Amino acid sequence: MPTPETEVSPEIAPEFAAEFAPAKINLALHVTGRRANGYHMLDSLVVFCGIGDRLRAEKAPGLSLRLTGPFADQVPEGADNLVLRAARATAQTAAITLEKHLPPASGIGGGSADAAATIRLLRRMTGATGPDADTILALGADLPVCLAGRPARMRGIGERLDPVPPLPPAHLLLVNPRITLPTPAVFRALARRDNPPMPATLPDWPDAAALARWLTAQRNDLEAPALAIAPGIGAVLDRLSACPDALLVRMSGSGATCFALFGQPAPAQAAAQAIGAEHRDWWVAAGPVLR
Ligand code: C5P
Repeated sequence: MPTPETEVSPEIAPEFAAEFAPAKINLALHVTGRRANGYHMLDSLVVFCGIGDRLRAEKAPGLSLRLTGPFADQVPEGADNLVLRAARATAQTAAITLEKHLPPASGIGGGSADAAATIRLLRRMTGATGPDADTILALGADLPVCLAGRPARMRGIGERLDPVPPLPPAHLLLVNPRITLPTPAVFRALARRDNPPMPATLPDWPDAAALARWLTAQRNDLEAPALAIAPGIGAVLDRLSACPDALLVRMSGSGATCFALFGQPAPAQAAAQAIGAEHRDWWVAAGPVLR
């Protein structure tokens, strides 16, 4: 049986392909307005973390999806599934396996990451060029940035992406108290929708401490409404704030996953172990910021 690593050239429509779907983290997320269609205008510094889902696809005459991994049972299997919707939008068939490691509906873009990885997989396997930008955005506001797959300043409702200064080496500890938060409810609970954007020009960040200092003056505007809906997030923020060497603690996206930023991998791993042992019911993971 050929494997993608040994016998299939990725350039010429391979029979198999695999993709990593990394967690998306909003280091800052400012809600700056609202469009007539109800979607919110954002200004966000988005990065990806070396923790994520894994997708594999094999050429097949029809479209199918197999779910594996620790969060497989929390992924919708029907027509709503974002992997299947993304595959249909690409107008290609394949037998896809999704190995689900990221907690769904948790502010780290799991569904969007999976849909973006599906599009990358199918493009690579078939040479397809679709779907177009509007279709991609309609799959989810985080889809464009997940498809780009590199650090970006995300504006509009998610469609406007600008490059950011090079990121310093940094590590993230992610903790989710196994609270699922519906994104629309968090946006609805916002007290203000016309908050200031990030500064027009982003500075250089020579190291993780400089990045954290700059981020301290930025915000996640969805943190307060998420906390109002799910006060349990407060315990996660407090616990992360107590980690030695944590440079910044914040919630990502619409929650409930929170992160601590570190300059080195060792304290992030040590904190992950300690928190995992204390809170066996929380989801805890640590990994590098992908640059
Ligand atoms: O596009 P996505 O499915 O990720 O968005 C989920 C929900 O979050 C939307 O239906 C909308 O209520 C809200 N949202 C928003 N403004 C954005 C992104 C999402 O209001 N920019």
